[in-house]
Amino acid sequence: MLRRLVDFCAGRTAIYDRLRNWLEGDFRMQAEVIAGEGLPECGRVIDVGCGTATFARLFDPDRYVGIDLDAVYVGGARRRAPGHTFHQMDATSTDFPAGSFDGGLVVGVLHHLDDATAAAVLDELRRVVKPGGRMLIMEQTHSPWTNPIGRFVNHFDKGGFIRSPEEYGRLIGPRFRIARSSRRRSGFVDYVVIAGSAHDSA
Ligand SMILES: C[S@@+](CC[C@H](N)C(=O)[O-])C[C@H]1O[C@@H](n2cnc3c(N)ncnc32)[C@H](O)[C@@H]1O
Repeated sequence: MLRRLVDFCAGRTAIYDRLRNWLEGDFRMQAEVIAGEGLPECGRVIDVGCGTATFARLFDPDRYVGIDLDAVYVGGARRRAPGHTFHQMDATSTDFPAGSFDGGLVVGVLHHLDDATAAAVLDELRRVVKPGGRMLIMEQTHSPWTNPIGRFVNHFDKGGFIRSPEEYGRLIGPRFRIARSSRRRSGFVDYVVIAGSAHDSA
């Protein structure tokens, strides 16, 4: 019953955005990290699995490209941030030439993907970001017992692959140079934040 309600909300972008904003404290944590890591100033950035443009407005429209597999979310993104660029595209295999971007952002995507698909997304991201380009990945992780609401949210999250910080590190480490990794809370939701850069060599 609750699962069906979650699915219903996820298909309606206005309800989905409101619910997520409430659960995640208006995404203030992610906005702070994105600014702190200097992503909006690093050049042209690709936002992989951009959803309904949660973070687009933190970037200059000329320096931002959002991609998402889901046409409904891409439509919602275009309505929410009309001056920015969005493409409906599979992040495992994009149309961009190698080295098209100076930075990559991934928020809340890998926990929806099994290891093989997550690895394919990260490999493609490494291809389209210039060697040495900026990388910022923030993904949901398991909540401790002291955060029962976070545990409840994770239980009903549509992502079936919520990982520990170590498991995310094992996926990301071979593909990107990890400079910093930390646990942060976004409203009720626990995240792993991994900042680094694309490897200089393939
Ligand atoms: C929880 S949403 C996160 C959206 C946004 N990044 C945010 O944090 O608000 C996960 C997004 O990943 C997208 N996604 C999943 N697999 C994808 C793929 N292979 N290519 C592109 N987008 C994908 C989904 O469609 C969904 O919009």
